[in-house]
Amino acid sequence: MERQFSYVMLKPGVLQRRLVGEVIGRIERKGLCIQAMKLLQLPRPLAEEHYREHRAKPFFKDLVDYITSGPVLAMIVGGDEAVAAMRQLCGATAAAEAQPGTIRGDLALHTRMNVVHASDSPASAEREIALFFKPEEMVNWPDGDGRWI
Ligand code: CMP
Repeated sequence: MERQFSYVMLKPGVLQRRLVGEVIGRIERKGLCIQAMKLLQLPRPLAEEHYREHRAKPFFKDLVDYITSGPVLAMIVGGDEAVAAMRQLCGATAAAEAQPGTIRGDLALHTRMNVVHASDSPASAEREIALFFKPEEMVNWPDGDGRWI
Protein backbone atom coordinates (compact mmCIF):
# COMPACT_ATOMS: atom_id res chain seq x y z
CA MET A 1 0.00 0.00 0.00
CA GLU A 2 1.37 3.38 -1.00
CA ARG A 3 0.13 6.55 0.62
CA GLN A 4 -0.91 8.83 -2.24
CA PHE A 5 -2.62 12.13 -2.84
CA SER A 6 -5.25 12.90 -5.46
CA TYR A 7 -6.48 16.23 -6.76
CA VAL A 8 -10.26 16.20 -6.52
CA MET A 9 -12.57 18.92 -7.80
CA LEU A 10 -16.31 19.10 -7.28
CA LYS A 11 -17.73 20.73 -10.41
CA PRO A 12 -20.11 23.73 -10.55
CA GLY A 13 -23.24 21.54 -10.71
CA VAL A 14 -22.43 20.11 -7.29
CA LEU A 15 -22.59 23.56 -5.72
CA GLN A 16 -25.67 24.51 -7.76
CA ARG A 17 -27.49 21.30 -6.83
CA ARG A 18 -26.44 21.58 -3.14
CA LEU A 19 -24.72 18.17 -3.34
CA VAL A 20 -21.41 19.10 -1.67
CA GLY A 21 -22.25 17.20 1.52
CA GLU A 22 -23.42 14.15 -0.44
CA VAL A 23 -20.17 13.90 -2.43
CA ILE A 24 -17.81 14.73 0.43
CA GLY A 25 -19.69 12.25 2.62
CA ARG A 26 -18.86 9.45 0.20
CA ILE A 27 -15.17 10.43 0.11
CA GLU A 28 -15.03 10.54 3.92
CA ARG A 29 -16.93 7.29 4.42
CA LYS A 30 -14.39 5.54 2.20
CA GLY A 31 -11.79 6.56 4.78
CA LEU A 32 -9.87 9.03 2.65
CA CYS A 33 -8.46 12.18 4.29
CA ILE A 34 -9.36 15.67 3.09
CA GLN A 35 -6.01 17.43 3.45
CA ALA A 36 -6.77 20.74 1.69
CA MET A 37 -9.95 22.39 0.48
CA LYS A 38 -10.66 25.61 -1.40
CA LEU A 39 -13.81 27.11 -2.93
CA LEU A 40 -13.01 29.07 -6.08
CA GLN A 41 -14.31 30.16 -9.45
CA LEU A 42 -11.72 29.12 -12.00
CA PRO A 43 -10.19 31.77 -14.24
CA ARG A 44 -10.34 30.51 -17.83
CA PRO A 45 -6.52 30.19 -18.25
CA LEU A 46 -6.28 28.01 -15.13
CA ALA A 47 -9.14 25.79 -16.37
CA GLU A 48 -7.41 25.47 -19.78
CA GLU A 49 -4.12 24.56 -18.12
CA HIS A 50 -5.77 22.01 -15.84
CA TYR A 51 -7.49 20.31 -18.81
CA ARG A 52 -4.61 20.85 -21.29
CA GLU A 53 -4.42 17.16 -22.27
CA HIS A 54 -7.92 17.58 -23.77
CA ARG A 55 -7.23 20.79 -25.69
CA ALA A 56 -7.47 19.13 -29.11
CA LYS A 57 -10.72 17.32 -28.27
CA PRO A 58 -14.00 18.53 -29.78
CA PHE A 59 -15.53 18.96 -26.31
CA PHE A 60 -12.69 21.14 -24.94
CA LYS A 61 -14.47 24.50 -25.26
CA ASP A 62 -17.67 23.17 -23.67
CA LEU A 63 -15.64 21.55 -20.91
CA VAL A 64 -13.87 24.82 -20.08
CA ASP A 65 -17.13 26.81 -20.39
CA TYR A 66 -18.76 24.48 -17.89
CA ILE A 67 -15.94 24.29 -15.34
CA THR A 68 -15.66 28.11 -15.30
CA SER A 69 -19.45 28.66 -15.09
CA GLY A 70 -19.69 28.67 -11.30
CA PRO A 71 -17.78 27.80 -8.15
CA VAL A 72 -15.81 24.58 -7.79
CA LEU A 73 -14.54 22.94 -4.62
CA ALA A 74 -10.88 21.99 -5.03
CA MET A 75 -9.42 19.40 -2.65
CA ILE A 76 -6.37 17.33 -1.93
CA VAL A 77 -7.49 13.88 -0.82
CA GLY A 78 -4.97 11.51 0.73
CA GLY A 79 -4.85 7.87 1.74
CA ASP A 80 -3.58 4.41 0.79
CA GLU A 81 -3.71 4.15 -3.02
CA ALA A 82 -5.82 7.33 -2.97
CA VAL A 83 -5.64 7.90 -6.75
CA ALA A 84 -7.23 4.54 -7.59
CA ALA A 85 -9.58 4.72 -4.61
CA MET A 86 -10.94 8.08 -5.79
CA ARG A 87 -11.32 6.89 -9.41
CA GLN A 88 -13.24 3.86 -8.16
CA LEU A 89 -15.53 6.03 -6.02
CA CYS A 90 -16.16 8.39 -8.98
CA GLY A 91 -17.04 5.69 -11.51
CA ALA A 92 -16.59 5.89 -15.28
CA THR A 93 -16.12 9.30 -16.93
CA ALA A 94 -18.94 8.70 -19.42
CA ALA A 95 -22.20 9.20 -17.55
CA ALA A 96 -23.88 6.33 -19.42
CA GLU A 97 -21.15 3.91 -18.30
CA ALA A 98 -20.86 4.92 -14.65
CA GLN A 99 -22.23 2.15 -12.46
CA PRO A 100 -24.87 2.70 -9.80
CA GLY A 101 -23.17 3.03 -6.42
CA THR A 102 -20.50 5.33 -7.80
CA ILE A 103 -20.68 9.13 -7.45
CA ARG A 104 -21.22 9.65 -11.20
CA GLY A 105 -23.44 6.60 -11.57
CA ASP A 106 -25.76 7.92 -8.89
CA LEU A 107 -25.57 11.67 -9.52
CA ALA A 108 -24.64 12.40 -13.16
CA LEU A 109 -26.70 12.15 -16.33
CA HIS A 110 -24.31 14.00 -18.68
CA THR A 111 -20.59 13.35 -19.24
CA ARG A 112 -19.66 17.05 -19.33
CA MET A 113 -21.47 17.65 -16.04
CA ASN A 114 -20.10 14.53 -14.38
CA VAL A 115 -19.98 15.94 -10.84
CA VAL A 116 -16.37 15.34 -9.94
CA HIS A 117 -12.83 15.35 -11.31
CA ALA A 118 -10.19 13.09 -9.76
CA SER A 119 -6.59 12.70 -10.94
CA ASP A 120 -6.04 9.76 -13.29
CA SER A 121 -2.50 8.91 -12.08
CA PRO A 122 -0.04 9.88 -9.33
CA ALA A 123 1.86 12.01 -11.91
CA SER A 124 -1.33 13.87 -12.88
CA ALA A 125 -2.12 14.34 -9.19
CA GLU A 126 1.27 15.95 -8.57
CA ARG A 127 0.80 18.35 -11.51
CA GLU A 128 -2.80 19.21 -10.63
CA ILE A 129 -2.14 19.69 -6.91
CA ALA A 130 0.70 22.10 -7.74
CA LEU A 131 -1.63 24.06 -10.05
CA PHE A 132 -4.23 24.66 -7.36
CA PHE A 133 -2.43 24.57 -4.00
CA LYS A 134 0.68 25.94 -2.36
CA PRO A 135 2.55 23.34 -0.28
CA GLU A 136 1.68 25.17 2.95
CA GLU A 137 -2.05 24.91 2.20
CA MET A 138 -1.96 21.14 2.72
CA VAL A 139 -2.48 19.74 6.21
CA ASN A 140 -0.72 16.48 7.02
CA TRP A 141 -2.94 14.17 9.01
CA PRO A 142 -3.24 11.62 10.45
CA ASP A 143 0.39 11.55 11.53
CA GLY A 144 2.46 8.42 12.02
CA ASP A 145 0.31 5.43 12.88
CA GLY A 146 -2.67 7.52 13.86
CA ARG A 147 -4.98 5.68 11.46
CA TRP A 148 -8.42 4.69 12.52
CA ILE A 149 -10.02 3.58 9.26
P1 CMP B 1 -12.90 14.92 -15.89
O1 CMP B 1 -12.59 13.73 -15.08
O2 CMP B 1 -13.01 16.23 -15.21
O3 CMP B 1 -11.78 15.02 -17.02
C1 CMP B 1 -12.02 15.54 -18.31
C2 CMP B 1 -13.45 15.88 -18.52
O4 CMP B 1 -13.84 16.06 -19.87
C3 CMP B 1 -14.32 14.75 -18.03
O5 CMP B 1 -14.28 14.65 -16.63
C4 CMP B 1 -15.66 15.12 -18.62
O6 CMP B 1 -16.33 16.09 -17.85
C5 CMP B 1 -15.23 15.75 -19.94
N1 CMP B 1 -15.43 14.82 -21.06
C6 CMP B 1 -14.75 13.69 -21.32
N2 CMP B 1 -15.22 13.10 -22.44
C7 CMP B 1 -16.21 13.89 -22.88
C8 CMP B 1 -17.10 13.82 -24.01
N3 CMP B 1 -17.02 12.81 -24.88
N4 CMP B 1 -18.01 14.80 -24.14
C9 CMP B 1 -18.08 15.82 -23.27
N5 CMP B 1 -17.25 15.94 -22.20
C10 CMP B 1 -16.34 14.98 -22.01
